[in-house]
Amino acid sequence: MRHQVRMAQMTFLPQSQSPDGLEFGARRRSFDLDGPLASDWHGGSAYRTAWFNAMSLLFPLGEKFFIDSVCHYQDRIRDPRLLGEIAAFRAQEATHRVQHQKYNELLCNLRDYDLPRFEKNERERMAWAYRELPPRRRLAGTVANEHLTAIMANDMLLHRDVLTGADPQVASLWEWHGIEETEHKAVAFDVFVAVGGTVSERRQALLLNTLFFFKDTLRNVCIMLQKDGKLWSIREWASGFKFLFIKPGMLRRVFPAWLRFFRKDFHPWQVDNRELIDQWKRQQDVTAVPNDVG
Ligand SMILES: [Fe+2]
Ligand SMILES: [Fe+2]
Repeated sequence: MRHQVRMAQMTFLPQSQSPDGLEFGARRRSFDLDGPLASDWHGGSAYRTAWFNAMSLLFPLGEKFFIDSVCHYQDRIRDPRLLGEIAAFRAQEATHRVQHQKYNELLCNLRDYDLPRFEKNERERMAWAYRELPPRRRLAGTVANEHLTAIMANDMLLHRDVLTGADPQVASLWEWHGIEETEHKAVAFDVFVAVGGTVSERRQALLLNTLFFFKDTLRNVCIMLQKDGKLWSIREWASGFKFLFIKPGMLRRVFPAWLRFFRKDFHPWQVDNRELIDQWKRQQDVTAVPNDVG
């Protein structure tokens, strides 16, 4: 009996559900954004540029929250593979924060935008979440946000038309971020499951966090268009609607993947898109830059 108890303590079920052979870590990258961020870098379109800039503005605060909520549970994880993935997740998200902070500061300096104004709502909501929500609810929020970033990254990398016309340096930043979001897409999810997170918690979290994502992104798009004198331009809004919902229609295309999260047996790696990572790596080998360690 004593022997059985000791065996139970020494063994564990694998908690990482990532596919065999998947390995990832942070890459050092630098991007030359001074030129493109001064103007409408996405094919001269004010709306498309504002949409991506608005998403970038959410990342530094959001990704700190993601790291904190996953690492909070690190001591409860026994699977060495998942522990390694948590370390890699943390390193990748920390690098994303640094690059997007640089992006956001540069953008606001170059275009005379007010950075604290863009971050105000998200900062207040994060403070509320740290104060009021139990750790597992915060982790459920992270799982939901990781699903949103993973499905948008998959669409961007798979179809390659979302960044058509974009400045190559800014596009390469978005692709690099999209690749790393793909690599670590299941880390928060696997930790959530390992610590007893429920299906209903993550379903609620996706509904709420999708709402917050649209609210914050659209708010920031409006602030930017207003500053540029284009807030009431029907042409800009029509072209933005077409871009998001019709052609290429990223938000329309990701909707089935968004819905899949509500299934009881959902796991992020049910869609095995490792080929996109391999393709990107092959492309990087061809156009390697000196600071490339990935
Ligand atoms: Fe990230
Ligand atoms: Fe992420």
